[in-house]
Amino acid sequence: MPFLYKRSFRSLSLVVIVALFLVSCGTGENPLSIDTPLTTFATDGYESSQIYSLFQPIFWMAIGVFVIVEGLLIWSVIRFRRRPTDGIPVQLHGNLPIELAWTIAPAILVLVIAVLTFRTQAELDRAPQNPLTVTVIGHQWWWEFQYPEGNVITANELHIPANRDVVLNLRSADVIHSFWAPRLSGKTDLIPGHENKLLIRPLGEQQVIVRGHCAEFCGGTHAMMAFHVVVQPQAEFDSWLAQQAAAAATPAGVAQAAASPPATGATVAATVTGEAATGDEVAATTAATVAATANAPETTTPVAEPTSLEAQGYQLFASKGCVGCHAITGYPGAVSRVGPDLTHVGGRQHIVAGWLENTPENMTRWLRDPNEVKPDNVMGTAIKLGTLQDNEIAALTAYLESLK
Ligand code: CUA
Repeated sequence: MPFLYKRSFRSLSLVVIVALFLVSCGTGENPLSIDTPLTTFATDGYESSQIYSLFQPIFWMAIGVFVIVEGLLIWSVIRFRRRPTDGIPVQLHGNLPIELAWTIAPAILVLVIAVLTFRTQAELDRAPQNPLTVTVIGHQWWWEFQYPEGNVITANELHIPANRDVVLNLRSADVIHSFWAPRLSGKTDLIPGHENKLLIRPLGEQQVIVRGHCAEFCGGTHAMMAFHVVVQPQAEFDSWLAQQAAAAATPAGVAQAAASPPATGATVAATVTGEAATGDEVAATTAATVAATANAPETTTPVAEPTSLEAQGYQLFASKGCVGCHAITGYPGAVSRVGPDLTHVGGRQHIVAGWLENTPENMTRWLRDPNEVKPDNVMGTAIKLGTLQDNEIAALTAYLESLK
């Protein structure tokens, strides 16, 4: 009887495991797995296609070995099974031809695999030609991308040109992460205090977006540390980079006096002239500036309430302390690198480290209660459900979404 109990327990465990697996497949909240699956079977880069062409022969060799070995095993078990009439089997002491065969055949296979592997490794180690360099910094739990070439810093959405070598300098701000965009290349770790390099060459003529993910367990929200790589033709990439280098636009209706002096154009001209000017010219430009300032209150309303939702959001960005963690180029005082750079956040396709599509609804959801979206995240230590009022969330959402 105990034997029967054991058997039914095992079958029950199996059913439970299979059921749990199916449930986890069906309900996991992963809205992005459909459009851009993390797969090594679709290749959009030179490196990934090299790795895939190594994988294929090794896979089929392994299938051959499996079929032959398991086939012989099953055939022997059936063909030479013990029958009631059998006595003691013939006692053998080795079989030289068979032993030679099963030593030499695997040795040849291993040698073939080694040659193929070394060839691929050498190809992946090639010297980059005229590369674009991007510094990738892993943070718990998001990605920072720095473009020294364009003086641009962005987050969670890596844009790179197609058909050009790209060297990624991989660093970490805290713990070990791993950069993995399987449709472009294999994974490489980001290690604190050490810089790794990863060379990739995306291929293709049209824009492709591939998904990437942190592939090294890095704490609480490792499972939600995703990113996207936008591979685009060089010309499109160039205009993207130029656009990203521009400062964020200040919404219309922001009280001008708070952000910058009035009559900006005149003042800038006056300042530039004044640097190398004679006393007379300084006097003249100062007079012009004073005149512009004196005229300003009649044409603008520097002390009035912000007139648009975006303008309200602009002011809340400072008064609610967002500037303590996030940088926005062109926003006075917003220079912190604790969280992602938000200069052009409205133009990104996703928010929350590749996790949510960038829509006003999702931005609202994120600002209302970050912990509900992404438990354990750093922003959730400052903002809980109720920290921001609905009208404040609406204003901040309008402002952030306007930062194209
Ligand atoms: Cu970063 Cu896992």
